[in-house]
Amino acid sequence: IADLDFIKALPKAELHLHIEGSLEPELLFELSRRNNIGIPFSSIDEIRAAYKFHNLQSFLDIYYKGASVLIHEQDFYDLTMAYLQRCREDNVVHTEIFFDPQTHTERGIDIGVVIRGIHRALKAAESEWGMSSQLILCFLRHLSEEDAIATLESAKPHLEFIKGVGLDSSELGHPPSKFQKVFAMAKALGLERVAHAGEEGPAEYIREALDLLEVSRIDHGVRCVEDETLIERLKEQEIPLTVCPLSNTALCVYDDMSQHPILGLLERGLCVTVNADDPAYFGGYVNRNYLALSESLGMTREQAKRLAINSFKASYLTDSEKQKWI
Ligand code: ADE
Ligand code: ZN
Repeated sequence: IADLDFIKALPKAELHLHIEGSLEPELLFELSRRNNIGIPFSSIDEIRAAYKFHNLQSFLDIYYKGASVLIHEQDFYDLTMAYLQRCREDNVVHTEIFFDPQTHTERGIDIGVVIRGIHRALKAAESEWGMSSQLILCFLRHLSEEDAIATLESAKPHLEFIKGVGLDSSELGHPPSKFQKVFAMAKALGLERVAHAGEEGPAEYIREALDLLEVSRIDHGVRCVEDETLIERLKEQEIPLTVCPLSNTALCVYDDMSQHPILGLLERGLCVTVNADDPAYFGGYVNRNYLALSESLGMTREQAKRLAINSFKASYLTDSEKQKWI
């Protein structure tokens, strides 16, 4: 069995991390005071106590409220720096970070403020610790495709800092097909493409993401287990899944970690990876996610190692950069 020391010693990449979901209650509280933004909690303990979810939407409602304390470039820097310090503790040497610009631009914050704050922290981690990173701009799927297109347009002056686009927020009722046009625009701009699919939504949404959005990775994707043909396709085409175990149990996708299919998919030869999603809300960063698999599914050292190697294979590092870690 892979214990915490073994997990920690493995160099890892993280490929599914929403930076707004790394906002710890302590920083949330501090920023609410610093920026004079009212929050419906009077203490850090009260915030933590509110983090009980029964599905994706019940989480998103609290997650978007939490993000409302982020105003200035420095806030985005502080948020990102705090996450990168956790990466350092967890031996995450490369990270590909999601951000949700619409959560901020809706409140009148310029997308440049968001991108500059995050990017400045990424550069600091690179120069101080040699940590590499990429930034992925996510469209909120509960909003319209026109809104997503306007967001992509507003990001054009900053594209040198953006590796790709993604699709997140409320999955059910908002299929990938809704965003076919904006993903084609992103492709034309030379951007990589990923999408959340098959988290709460059906396996069909995974097919749509592959066929209509031409994504090169699927975020979550765990509901592929309901479709044998799709599993074979993911294996044949070597489509990585960025799986988030603690997220899936926190949002009641599974009642218990012992039901999680990740190691079964690994043994079938799929390129599955382990990620934290929204660690401030779901009970832990990357190493905690690996550890949960040891504790509930008996993950071996050999399996942990394969999962870590998959995280680099599935990353947007160049082949020669990957060689350093594989
Ligand atoms: N936004 C932040 N975390 C998310 C998740 N797990 N699924 C969809 N949207 C999200
Ligand atoms: Zn996610």
